[in-house]
Amino acid sequence: MTTLITGAHGQLGSDLRQMITGSCTAVGRTQLDITSAEQVDNFLQEHRPTVVINAAAYNSVDQAEDEPDVAYAVNALGPRNLAVACQRLGATLVHVSTDYVFGQDTSRLMPFSELDPPAPCSAYGISKLAGEHFVQSCCRRSFVVRTCGVYGHAARDGAGKGNFVETMLRLGSELDQLKVVNDQYCTPTASLDLADGILRLLQTTEYGLYHFSSDGSATWYDFALEIFSIAGIDVDLLPIPSSEYPTRAVRPRFSLLDCTRYETATGELIPNWQSALRRYLQQREQQLSEQQQVAGTA
Ligand SMILES: NC(=O)c1ccc[n+]([C@@H]2O[C@H](COP(=O)([O-])OP(=O)(O)OC[C@H]3O[C@@H](n4cnc5c(N)ncnc54)[C@H](OP(=O)(O)O)[C@@H]3O)[C@@H](O)[C@H]2O)c1
Repeated sequence: MTTLITGAHGQLGSDLRQMITGSCTAVGRTQLDITSAEQVDNFLQEHRPTVVINAAAYNSVDQAEDEPDVAYAVNALGPRNLAVACQRLGATLVHVSTDYVFGQDTSRLMPFSELDPPAPCSAYGISKLAGEHFVQSCCRRSFVVRTCGVYGHAARDGAGKGNFVETMLRLGSELDQLKVVNDQYCTPTASLDLADGILRLLQTTEYGLYHFSSDGSATWYDFALEIFSIAGIDVDLLPIPSSEYPTRAVRPRFSLLDCTRYETATGELIPNWQSALRRYLQQREQQLSEQQQVAGTA
């Protein structure tokens, strides 16, 4: 298996790079801009991967409302370019999408399965949904994996754009009191687990659409509470409704993903979000202490 990872410096791309043991080419935007059909085609013809994992994305949910064409270029046309090139080569494509393809159903209380009709309520969600359609219609051997609330270590390296865990840890050390939204339900997911899930799916030929998130449910307030509890940070955390924290883009009130299809295809049960978060924070502490030791000896 010869793998190509696009968007390789993001959260998911970085974890994939470390986990793939065989032949792997990992490229960031400067080496391969997926919005250029010509670049994508030439690159794939030259490197001839058997598997392409698209970890590239435009994830600025609020900004997408002001530049929907940019979001569409990266999240819809980019995957289309990859899908067309993969189909031509006979390669397998893994594309990652989002729980934000749901959200218009504001009375929803049951996790969404792959059979539920998507109904996005933001420019970002629309662009990601278009990307899914292109991949599924242009590439026969494709996996589309929807996920939710991603956090990974690369967000700390300057390459990433931050994540909720890192933002909470920073704010928790700067402020005495924090207000966090308590009426939007999703499931935080570590990019390390998502990378592992993708590699497990690739061991099958059960192509198609999958939901993958950690197990369980949390509001952003629940998530923040758990972060501060595990990290031992004492901050006065107040739950607020979304109406008190207006954002440019409308976000789903409830976007839990039912991951049964993934678990059936791979035979793997996905652990809960609290244990994934604990592992992330332990690894984070270890990485920071190793960096301090290196800085101390330099
Ligand atoms: N983050 C979340 O909470 C979340 C939630 C649900 C689903 N997802 C999905 O999960 C996947 C992985 O997300 P992530 O959090 O790992 O994303 P990320 O950390 O933001 O990384 C995305 C990467 O894509 C690169 N990129 C942007 N435009 C590109 C282009 N035109 N060509 C090539 N590369 C480009 C970015 O490079 P630059 O830094 O140079 O822009 C960045 O390195 C994405 O499909 C995302 O939509 C994420």
